[in-house]
Amino acid sequence: MANARPIIESDDEFTYAGVRYITSTSDYSKRTGPDGVILLKPKSWIEMYCDLVERERVERVLELGVWQGGMSILLPSFEPALRYMGVEHSQATAPIMAAISALPQIKDRVRIDFETSQSDPSLPARIAAHFGSSELDLVIDDASHRYIESRRSFELFFPMLRPGAAYIVEDWAWAHWQNYRLDRHFASQPSLSNLLFEVSILAASEPEMVASVEVRSAMFIVRRGAAEIKPGWRLSESLRFNGQSSRLPLLKPSIRYLIQRKLGLAKG
Ligand SMILES: C[S@@+](CC[C@H](N)C(=O)[O-])C[C@H]1O[C@@H](n2cnc3c(N)ncnc32)[C@H](O)[C@@H]1O
Repeated sequence: MANARPIIESDDEFTYAGVRYITSTSDYSKRTGPDGVILLKPKSWIEMYCDLVERERVERVLELGVWQGGMSILLPSFEPALRYMGVEHSQATAPIMAAISALPQIKDRVRIDFETSQSDPSLPARIAAHFGSSELDLVIDDASHRYIESRRSFELFFPMLRPGAAYIVEDWAWAHWQNYRLDRHFASQPSLSNLLFEVSILAASEPEMVASVEVRSAMFIVRRGAAEIKPGWRLSESLRFNGQSSRLPLLKPSIRYLIQRKLGLAKG
């Protein structure tokens, strides 16, 4: 059974199970350390994740994109049966590892694979080794938010979910947000919304594979259906258009936009 919920009264911080969390949605300047653990989520999302973990008995969580370890510490602190694996392409930092090691109630249930890409093909085997099972209860993709990497992660990890479990892609809509200035990480990339379109078509093409797709303004949630998915599965082979496998045309930046951007004239 889950512990008492965190009570989050401020948008900037809260304390839970003896740990101070410093929260924000976009401030990448802060680091986990003696002042607290950095968690890059708004209050409503933290509450939503606690809700989901409690209601759906979530015990095996894969998070892609760990940043300063906020979710790596919060989720296992909230649910004593929950085991967590994080994947992060940056190097491990001593303060994150120290914050986890200082918590005997969670330290044996948390594994973070640093210096690992979210689409590393060796991850399914590492995940199965950590959980002792290849079935996951929740996947959170909060890593690159780029289409190509996120799509590959979906192909690798969506099949690993148990039927009914959720695969959550955060911040899918960056290409469509008003007044959002794209940094270099995104500017020349196909939008992440392409993945949402493909997953929606997957739900129609293979209704036994995808139980539902829920779209929110800044995340989408795909529920696993009961159909087995064969090893090495690729999304494109299951997207049917007039009875044939098909690839969708991709939404991506136009040459005009890229030139305007280079000249400093683009709005986004
Ligand atoms: C938005 S932050 C994650 C925030 C964290 N989930 C939280 O709730 O506090 C995104 C993280 O993903 C990592 N990242 C970016 N691209 C990645 C990739 N291709 N593979 C793995 N991690 C990646 C970044 O280094 C960064 O730490």
